[in-house]
Amino acid sequence: MLAVKDVSITIRESKKEIVRNISFDVPDGTVIGLIGESGSGKSMTSKCIMGLLNKRIIGQQGSIQWNGLELLDKRNAKAAKNILGNEICMILQNPMTAFSPVLKIATQLEMGFTLKGRLARQYFYTQLDVLLKKLSLNDTKKILNSYPHELSGGMLQRIMIAITLLKRPELIIADEITTAVDAATEYQILYELENIKKNGVSMIVVTHDFGVAARLCDNVAVMKDGRILEYGRTRMVLSNPQNEYTKTLVSSCILFEGARAC
Ligand SMILES: Nc1ncnc2c1ncn2[C@@H]1O[C@H](COP(=O)(O)OP(=O)(O)OP(=O)(O)O)[C@@H](O)[C@H]1O
Ligand SMILES: [Mg+2]
Repeated sequence: MLAVKDVSITIRESKKEIVRNISFDVPDGTVIGLIGESGSGKSMTSKCIMGLLNKRIIGQQGSIQWNGLELLDKRNAKAAKNILGNEICMILQNPMTAFSPVLKIATQLEMGFTLKGRLARQYFYTQLDVLLKKLSLNDTKKILNSYPHELSGGMLQRIMIAITLLKRPELIIADEITTAVDAATEYQILYELENIKKNGVSMIVVTHDFGVAARLCDNVAVMKDGRILEYGRTRMVLSNPQNEYTKTLVSSCILFEGARAC
C-alpha cells in the first residue's frame, strides 16, 4: 500500500508552495484518481512519489510510505531506487520527454530491460507485440526501428504504456495518458487499464476528465491550487459533490451523464 501523508512541495527559491499538506492512501488493488484543473499540482504530486523532483530546487515535506518504507527518508534511498521504476512505475504526461531523441525505440528498450538469453528476449518481444497490438499499434517491427521523432505523441504514449505494463509493477501512476490520443484509442487504453485493475494492480490515475475517473477510479481526490478539496468514493463525489468547487467542476463536465452511470 502507498500512504501519502501531509505532503507539501515548495519551490525553494521563490518559497512558492505548489502542493499543500495533501494526504491519501492507495490500498493494494485500488485505483485512486487525482482530478483537477491545469496547474493544480497533480503531476508534481506524482513526480514527488516517484522521486523525480530535483531536491536542490524543490523542497518536499511529509511522508510517502510504500509498504511501510519511508520513500522520502534519505537513509532509504537505495531501497527506494529499487522500488521506483520497478514496483511503482509512472507513465509520464509528456511522452516526448520520456524517450531519448537520438536512439531508436529498440535500443532504448534494450537499455531499460535486462534480457538474458534468446528465450527471454523472444518472450519479451512477443509480449510487447501483443500489448502494442492491443493498443492499436500494429507494426511492431517498424516502431522498434523508429526514432522517437518519427512517431506521434499518441504512439509514444502507447509505447510507454506497453513498456510499463511489461515491467509488471504493483502500482502504476498514469499521468493524463489519454490526452494525446483519439477517442477510439482512448477507449482501448482505458479498456487495457480496466483489465490491469482486474488483475489487482493499484493505480493513481491523473486526469481532468470525469469520464475517465468514473470508469476507472474507486476513489477520487479533487485538487485545486495544490490542495485536496474533496476526497471520497468516485460515485459519491460525482453524484453528490460537497465542495463548491467540485460542484462547479462536475456540473460543467460534459461527461457528467456518463460519469453518473458508473
Ligand atoms: N519545475 C517547476 N518550477 C516551478 N514551478 C513549477 C515547476 N513545475 C511545475 N510548477 C508549478 O507547479 C504547479 C503545479 O504544476 P503541475 O504540473 O503539478 O500541474 P498539473 O495539475 O499537473 O497541471 P496539468 O493538468 O496542466 O498537467 C503549477 O503552478 C506549475 O506552474
Ligand atoms: Mg500535469
